[in-house]
Amino acid sequence: MRTNGRNAKKLLARTAPPPKSPEALRQTFTFGDVLLVPKRSPITSRRRVDTTGRFSRRITLKLPIVSANMDTVTEAQMAIALARDGGLGVIHRFLTIEEECAEVAQVKRAESIVIERPYTLSPSDTVGEARALMRRREVGGLLVVDKASKLLGIVTTRDLKFKPAKDDAKPVTAVMTRKLVTARPGVSLEEAERLLGSAKVEKLPLVSASGELKGLITAKDLTKRRLAPDASHDAKGRLLVGAAVGVIGDYLERTAALLEAGADVLVLDVAHGHADHVLRAVEKIKARWPSAELVAGNVATYEGARDLAAAGADGIKVGVGPGATCSTRIVTGAGVPQLSAVMDCARITRELDVPITADGGIRDSGDITKALAGGASCVMIGSLLAGTDESPGWTVVRKGMKYKAYRGMASLAATLSRKHKAGEAELEAEQLAEVVPEGVEALVPYRGRVAEVLAQLEGGLRSGMSYCGAPDLATLWSNAEFIRITPAGWSESKPHAIE
Ligand code: XMP
Repeated sequence: MRTNGRNAKKLLARTAPPPKSPEALRQTFTFGDVLLVPKRSPITSRRRVDTTGRFSRRITLKLPIVSANMDTVTEAQMAIALARDGGLGVIHRFLTIEEECAEVAQVKRAESIVIERPYTLSPSDTVGEARALMRRREVGGLLVVDKASKLLGIVTTRDLKFKPAKDDAKPVTAVMTRKLVTARPGVSLEEAERLLGSAKVEKLPLVSASGELKGLITAKDLTKRRLAPDASHDAKGRLLVGAAVGVIGDYLERTAALLEAGADVLVLDVAHGHADHVLRAVEKIKARWPSAELVAGNVATYEGARDLAAAGADGIKVGVGPGATCSTRIVTGAGVPQLSAVMDCARITRELDVPITADGGIRDSGDITKALAGGASCVMIGSLLAGTDESPGWTVVRKGMKYKAYRGMASLAATLSRKHKAGEAELEAEQLAEVVPEGVEALVPYRGRVAEVLAQLEGGLRSGMSYCGAPDLATLWSNAEFIRITPAGWSESKPHAIE
């Protein structure tokens, strides 16, 4: 329809925005704006504090810390370390489907009471091949089976230790141990431990009545389990792991493959999770895989959390722009200061029993206490974990100091490496100009092993809960009293007036 000048003016007047009063703007807060008031506490030692939280309806973590699904934070090594300490790692999705599944499978294999598909050799494989496979898979023993999966023997590092290199061409049957201590599938852990102990062996193959190999229990895994009762395990004693998926392209194929690979929880993760196509993706995944645990995000409002929960999400990730490498708020003007976003979204936990995770902006352990006190059931962390040995980021030495790379997943570098991986090797200048990054690339100080970082974060959280008089998360939610502080109050809170 053509409009003349007067019509256009009328149209504009009709569609002009309603007046907005600046006085009506609500005030919002983040971690540095508040403190928690110390309360009378029944806790005699911070060791007595129970920090258990939930990442999703059915994923409970003794340590409510989840590592961010970012390519400089979480692949298998990080996820293994987090789960061993009672937290959870979420493998990032900027990998091929096969690569992401391999990371998940590596975590699921890292520790398990019953290894369902142990590595095997056939009788015609050579000693050299056995040696190479042990080295590649980092295992100390391989089971030898025939074509019908019947167990014939075991080759361990001990069998190969003093064999000269000229034996490498011999078949494994020449060196394997044939007399084996075995058990039936379904053997109790106590019985397995007794059998391994009395025979003084490291591996207990599980075989059916007809001699078919059905699994393996190792002494190492039993010991690990005893030493780490708080680790995040599934029902089979394997470490828990999460895996991220997107909402376009191959996401359904990826979801199917990740579930098949053993992912315990899927994280449907996009920058603006309160969008129609995201809600449809949540509905689709839950319709196809109703029993899969699905955490979705990111949102920053109660309405966002409510809509994702109504679409079927089992957990909600909260945070638009608080992360250390985020520039979303600067580039787009959109976002909500993180503590207010968390407190707003947490209503959904009370109303529908869907836990929320505070994602991004955690600078210190005190922020974890504040996020949980504000109603979160878990926190997701990137920058504080990116500097550890277990992160996949590369190491950089600058003026004698060690750093690790950490980059936002919407940064220019991350976007370009994704395009490069997708086969768009030669980007035209206009295509480059079309990239509008919402994140930055950075370096974070090297921090050593992740277990050391987690010990500090956990210790701070335990003490924080103790200051609030809260022996557990539910009491923290009801006891916590926030007070707003001034910039001077915040400056007083940090070490000051010292060299
Ligand atoms: P921290 O503060 O722990 O935050 O490093 C980690 C979280 O930051 C988010 N993230 C981004 N947000 N642009 C953003 O606006 C980005 O490029 C970006 N990359 C990561 C993400 O939620 C992560 O868990």
